[in-house]
Amino acid sequence: EETSRFQNEPLIDFSLEESRTQMQEALESVADQFGKEYPLLINGRAIDTKATITSRNPSHRSESLGVVSSASADDAIDAIDAARRAFPGWSKTEPQYRSEYLELIAANMRRKRFELAAWMVYECGKPWEEADADVAEAIDFCMYYADQMRKMSEPLHCDVPGEENVYFYRPRGTVAVIAPWNFPLAILTGMTAAALVTGNTVVMKPAEQSSIVAAKLMDLIHESGIPDGVVNFLPGIGEEVGPELVGSPDVEMITFTGSRDVGLSINETASETDIRQKMVKRVIAEMGGKNAIIVDDDADLDEAVLGVIHSAFNYAGQKCSACSRVIVLESIHDTFVKRLVEATKSLKIGPAEEPGTIVGPVIDEDAKQRILEYIEIGKEEATLALACETTDLDEEGYYVGPHIFTDVDSSCQIAVEEIFGPVLAVMKAEDFEEAISIANDTPYALTAGIFSRSPAHLQKAKMELVAGNIYLNRNITGAMVERHPFGGFKMSGIGNKTGGPDYLLQFVVPVNVTENT
Ligand code: NAD
Ligand code: ALA
Repeated sequence: EETSRFQNEPLIDFSLEESRTQMQEALESVADQFGKEYPLLINGRAIDTKATITSRNPSHRSESLGVVSSASADDAIDAIDAARRAFPGWSKTEPQYRSEYLELIAANMRRKRFELAAWMVYECGKPWEEADADVAEAIDFCMYYADQMRKMSEPLHCDVPGEENVYFYRPRGTVAVIAPWNFPLAILTGMTAAALVTGNTVVMKPAEQSSIVAAKLMDLIHESGIPDGVVNFLPGIGEEVGPELVGSPDVEMITFTGSRDVGLSINETASETDIRQKMVKRVIAEMGGKNAIIVDDDADLDEAVLGVIHSAFNYAGQKCSACSRVIVLESIHDTFVKRLVEATKSLKIGPAEEPGTIVGPVIDEDAKQRILEYIEIGKEEATLALACETTDLDEEGYYVGPHIFTDVDSSCQIAVEEIFGPVLAVMKAEDFEEAISIANDTPYALTAGIFSRSPAHLQKAKMELVAGNIYLNRNITGAMVERHPFGGFKMSGIGNKTGGPDYLLQFVVPVNVTENT
């Protein structure tokens, strides 16, 4: 059996002084670049627009990082047109050749590893380790999809006497990539790399809040020598350019990662058929989660506490995979909560550029207000067991400290809705059966976890938890390419798992050719 050449990119060890120095130097050199302007890139041509997006540092709200052009609907039409015109040439390139482009992009990411991480620290408030893991995941996506494409490009033969059959894949066409800000490099790279390596052309629409990191990715793609028009950079306001991208008769596929509301509206719009359209649009929509961890009555509580706080509060809970509900067996509930609260108090909250920060800022003022509203709702419907104050940071940036609520009922709003912040609902279960049923009582199905020493309960969780990624006795975030193909179902998304063997199949159409011999 063929073994994969792929290996995950090792993470930077920031306990080493040398790594800390490299990161500090990168932070300083990136700070020297603040204030630059970033244009659109359509058909290889830089375009400055009248409207702009000013990118800000969420750790220090007054710090402006740069100004990014903001595309109009007309720019979106031009970008789609450029991608459409580039398609015949790019789709005919050898798959091997396209894989090599991804490997070149990955090599350049390795070279700029600290610089790219530093941009994410500043633009998205990502603490060091998280920012570094984001670059490593972006490299992994390039390398893994390059490898997968090589495997996929081997045609399948099924010949019988008098008849030769060959089964192979063709690209779909123009792909609109619409990305979120929370994995600003990894997710944008993953979706774009998959579309490219399979022979499609791309209009790349990053999230408003992470437009500079996206511009850095566009630079890497451009520097790799990929022909003009194959990837077009279209930063802009989602509500303004999104409908044009999704509704265009010249877009064959939309690959989206973001919130449930936007994902569902994209799915709906894309299903409306325009008379000029030549293909039924395919939509990939990776959406949110309301992820639970069960803490069984025989769980190792040291591990459970660490696993829960890591999953709930790292990067201020701003991961689709984050734990927002912990379901604790009644007999250990009070002991667990006491330890959880004490351990959470020790998390370092602060600006993302400071080494050792675990809980940085949330992304912007809107996010902060939304999370604070949920905290107020929580106070009405449950018991506030911990509120980590950020009084000394509030003037400086968009900080919300970890909050833990107990006595949370399944009907509570904080147990049902995705908050996307450092707010954790603790729920009590009378027995293990009830714990599983509470965990599954959500329209989402993204991640789930359990801490238990009981083989029977671990087996039951494995079979009965309704989630795309189930973790036993560990944290529920940080999926790695190939080892943990990632993605959910139900209201968490439509599409095959990223970083897994089926992902690229979504970007192609299979063709079978039969020859009478
Ligand atoms: P969002 O839905 O607000 O924005 C995502 C993207 O959609 C942005 O680029 C935005 O500009 C664009 N957009 C907004 N309105 C649009 C419209 N009408 N048409 C087309 N595009 C439009 O999400 P966000 O705040 O950037 O990211 C956070 C959300 O993403 C959370 O819900 C989180 O759970 C989810 N997420 C999911 C995954 C996953 O793999 N399942 C991964 C990361 C984030
Ligand atoms: N892939 C990311 C994680 O697993 C979202 O945390």
